Amino acid sequence: MSSIFDKNDIANKIDTVSSLAELEKLRVYYLGKKGLLTLEMKSLSSMPIQEKKEKGKKLNLIKTFFENELLKKKDSIANSIINELVKKEKVDVTLPARDYQSGKIHPISQSLYKIIDIFSSMGFAVESGPDIESDFNNFTALNIPSHHPAREMQDTFYIESSIEEEEKVLRTHTSPVQVRTMLDTKPPIRIIVPGRTYRSDSDATHTPMFHQVEGLLIDESSTMAHLKGCLVDFLKEFFEINDLQYRFRPSYFPFTEPSAEMDVAFTKDNNLIKIGEGDQWLEILGCGMVNPRVLQNCKIDSNKYQGFAFGMGIERLSMLKYGITDMRGFFDSDFKWLNHYGSNPLDISSSSGI
Ligand code: DAH
Repeated sequence: MSSIFDKNDIANKIDTVSSLAELEKLRVYYLGKKGLLTLEMKSLSSMPIQEKKEKGKKLNLIKTFFENELLKKKDSIANSIINELVKKEKVDVTLPARDYQSGKIHPISQSLYKIIDIFSSMGFAVESGPDIESDFNNFTALNIPSHHPAREMQDTFYIESSIEEEEKVLRTHTSPVQVRTMLDTKPPIRIIVPGRTYRSDSDATHTPMFHQVEGLLIDESSTMAHLKGCLVDFLKEFFEINDLQYRFRPSYFPFTEPSAEMDVAFTKDNNLIKIGEGDQWLEILGCGMVNPRVLQNCKIDSNKYQGFAFGMGIERLSMLKYGITDMRGFFDSDFKWLNHYGSNPLDISSSSGI
């Protein structure tokens, strides 16, 4: 047999190979369809039986030897590839850690989540309406006709419209969603409406855009006592104060009769307002029994149905809850401010989990 089939020669050849591709070439050279060993084995068929036996045996030994060496080499090449990779991907554990910054939840969003959470647990559904509202929904249906002095209470942004078109405004409160809901749904109704509202006003306690939550409950039997219970329960839960001191003060809103404003007691400590107790009062929301005229304007039988409504400013509630003194900070998008007053999204205890 030629020296090509010498074990040493084969071992040397395999030894010089350094890649899997070269190894494959060598395998084909010996064992491919037209490989040296393959051809040699094919040639056995034409040999006399004795010679065939002897040569066949040798060839088989060589083939097994070649295949074993091939496998060993394959393993060693794969190992060196992995070692090379591991070396390249080594992590330097002495490097300083990268700076980590997590986002914060804006106090308005945080308050909103909490408000929705509390009223949902009392069975209120969440409704919404457009920021650009018809004059009818924003004023007229709520018993504020065009000549009514109550329109002076709100510095309205009017939207330019042609003479034939109905006048449009940026809604001055969330109350028009009461109208939309009553025109759309039959009682019983139990909704809250969180949303943006607009008035032409800007100082430390007013911004042209702000947020309100409206509440509306219409059924056949709810009274002012239910309204009071509902609001007191809400505020205790929102401010997390069990013995909250509060009072209801008679007031006037065209859309409720009787109307009231709710005040909570507070003290000032180092210029920070602490609410819940004290000898000073802070107005926190408006409310009342829905004026039968509003029910009639919204096609609801005022002899059969009655109910209550309330409205409050989310900025004001948030300022009190989080000790914020200037309202303009809410809308400045100042990262430092947000970092200070925002809440951690992973802090389950201060989030509603919504
Ligand atoms: N819409 C009123 C405002 O913006 C707030 C309000 C007061 C809403 C009494 C009500 C209510 O639903 O009953 O000043």
